[in-house]
Amino acid sequence: MFPYCPAQFLAEPNSMVKSLATHRLGKSGIEVSVIGTGLWAVGGGWGPVDDQNALDAIEASLDAGINFFDTADVYGNGHSEELLGKAMRGRRERFVVATKIGWVGYDGKNNRSQYDSVDKLIAGVEESLRRLQTDHVDLIQNHIFYREPNTDIFLEGFQRLQRDGKARAYGLSSSDFAFIKDFNHDGLCAGLQIDYSILNRTAESEIFPYCQANSIGVIIRGSLAMGILAGKFNSETRFPEGDFRRNWHENPDERRIFLEDLDKVERLRALTNDRTLSQLALRFVIDHPAVTTVIPGARSPKQARENVRAGLLPSLTPAERQQINSLVPPGGGRKIWPA
Ligand SMILES: NC(=O)c1ccc[n+]([C@@H]2O[C@H](COP(=O)([O-])OP(=O)(O)OC[C@H]3O[C@@H](n4cnc5c(N)ncnc54)[C@H](OP(=O)(O)O)[C@@H]3O)[C@@H](O)[C@H]2O)c1
Repeated sequence: MFPYCPAQFLAEPNSMVKSLATHRLGKSGIEVSVIGTGLWAVGGGWGPVDDQNALDAIEASLDAGINFFDTADVYGNGHSEELLGKAMRGRRERFVVATKIGWVGYDGKNNRSQYDSVDKLIAGVEESLRRLQTDHVDLIQNHIFYREPNTDIFLEGFQRLQRDGKARAYGLSSSDFAFIKDFNHDGLCAGLQIDYSILNRTAESEIFPYCQANSIGVIIRGSLAMGILAGKFNSETRFPEGDFRRNWHENPDERRIFLEDLDKVERLRALTNDRTLSQLALRFVIDHPAVTTVIPGARSPKQARENVRAGLLPSLTPAERQQINSLVPPGGGRKIWPA
C-alpha cells in the first residue's frame, strides 16, 4: 500500500475508462491521453526489474484509459521496447508509441552519435520496430539533448521514416532552447519531451511559449522528480545497487540538493487535501496549457491507477497555485538529472 494514498484514488480502474481526456500532439494530429506511461524504469537502471509487474502496469494503464507509452532503444538495452512489443501483440491499434534513438553507441569523446548516415539511422529505428513487433511508431524522437555533428542526419532520417510510413511524426527530447529551435527550423517537429515539475519550472519562461506558438506537442518527463514528488523518500532512504538514484546519497552535491527537495516536498503535503502527493504533482503539470501529456514512470498497476486518477481530478485552485509559487516561482527551480 502506498503510504500517502487514500484508498478511493487507487480503486475503480473501470470507471475511469471513458473519462481520461486526450489532447492532440502538436501538428501531428495524433490523439494522446493526457496521462501516459514512461517505460524507462521497467527496462532497467532503477533497481531490480520485474517483467510481470511491468506488463501488469501496462495493462492497468490501458484499462484506465491511457493510450500513450514512451520508451527508447537504450532503456534496458532494448528490454523496455521488447516488453512494450509483448504487451501490444494482437492489439497494436490501442497504443500510441513513442520511442527514441541516439544514445546507443554514442561516442562521448568526440561528442558524436554512431549515426553518421541516414541509412544507419534508419537501420537503428528498424531494430526498434523489430523489438516493438510493429511496422511503425507514432513518434520517433532524437534522444541527444543538444546539437551534435550528426543532427542533420536525424532530421533527414526522421523525415524519410515519415514518408515511408515507419513513423507518423517526429520530435526530440531536450531542454536546450537553442537546439529545440534549430531542430524545428523547417517547422516540421511535432513533439518535444522535456523535464517539468513543481521542482523544475524552467520550461515555463521561453520553451513552453515557443512550443505553443509553433504547434509542438509537449510531453512531460520528470513530473514526479524521479519519485521525490511522490513523497515516499526521506533523509534515511537508501537506493539499491543498480539504481542511479544512489547518487542522491553517495554524491555530496546531489545529496544536498536531494535534502532541499525533500524539504519542499514536506511543505507541499499541506496542499494535498484529498489527493496524493503524486496526484498533486501530476495535476500541477497537466494544468499548464502548453502541456499535451505527462508520462510518469509507473512500475506497478497501483502506481499506474493512482497516476491516471490525477487526470480526472479538478485543476488546482488559484490559491493552491499561489502557494506553489511561493515555494518555487514561475520559471524557477532546478533541472533534475537527466533533464
Ligand atoms: N532523456 C529522456 O528522454 C528521458 C529522461 C528521463 C525520463 N524519460 C521518460 O520519462 C519517463 C518518466 O521518467 P522520469 O525520469 O520522468 O521519472 P518520474 O516519472 O518523475 O518518476 C518515476 C518514478 O516515480 C515513481 N512513481 C511513479 N508513479 C508513482 C506513484 N503513483 N506513487 C509513487 N511513486 C511513483 C517510481 O519510482 P520507484 O522506482 O521508486 O517505484 C518511478 O520509477 C521515463 O520512463 C521515460 O519514458 C525520458
